[in-house]
Amino acid sequence: MKRLVVLISGYGSNLQAILNACRRGELPAKVVAVISNKADAFGLQRAIDAGVPAIPLPFYRDLHFDRAGYDEVLADVIESYRPDLIVCAGWMRILGPAFVRRFAGKIINLHPALPGTFPGTRSIAEAFEAFQRGEIQHTGVMVHYVDEGVDTGPVIATCEVPIYPTDSLQDLERRVHETEHKLLVASIWDVIGSQEAEK
Ligand code: GRF
Repeated sequence: MKRLVVLISGYGSNLQAILNACRRGELPAKVVAVISNKADAFGLQRAIDAGVPAIPLPFYRDLHFDRAGYDEVLADVIESYRPDLIVCAGWMRILGPAFVRRFAGKIINLHPALPGTFPGTRSIAEAFEAFQRGEIQHTGVMVHYVDEGVDTGPVIATCEVPIYPTDSLQDLERRVHETEHKLLVASIWDVIGSQEAEK
């Protein structure tokens, strides 16, 4: 049974998709901890409801001093759960190079855009605006390994998401999130399956 630590920052709909897949036996894995950099993230309540350790870890300057200091505390907490895989599911903090090196090859991130497009935190809105300008016909979602860039690591899986002229931004957001939930679970399956094969 592979051990997953899931990092979140907000609503946690992608975390919920992972919890549901584990509960249904669709993933040979269990979520052993959920950590959020936002103490009020609704996703923490989802973890509690699922009986999974829910750990708020907000950044406090007088405690963590800087990004590297925060990452070191985060890494120590994560390591204590002995993860086979760390899943950034709606995680909105950049992980520094020391953190990435410490867990090299064991961190994956979900991003609501296709590789090389709309980096950052407004991806869906920016895709919607680009569609309105006639620049794109569709957008998409990707899951990738985390490297020392931002949304730039080796791609594990992608899925295109159509945009329709009648769409509101909310319509597109809903379609993107539905696609994320499926792609993230499938990607975790692929990664832990390849980990098993490497043994
Ligand atoms: C998702 O689009 C995720 O890719 C992005 O934040 C959004 C919210 O995700 N980083 P969730 O509902 O908190 O899982």
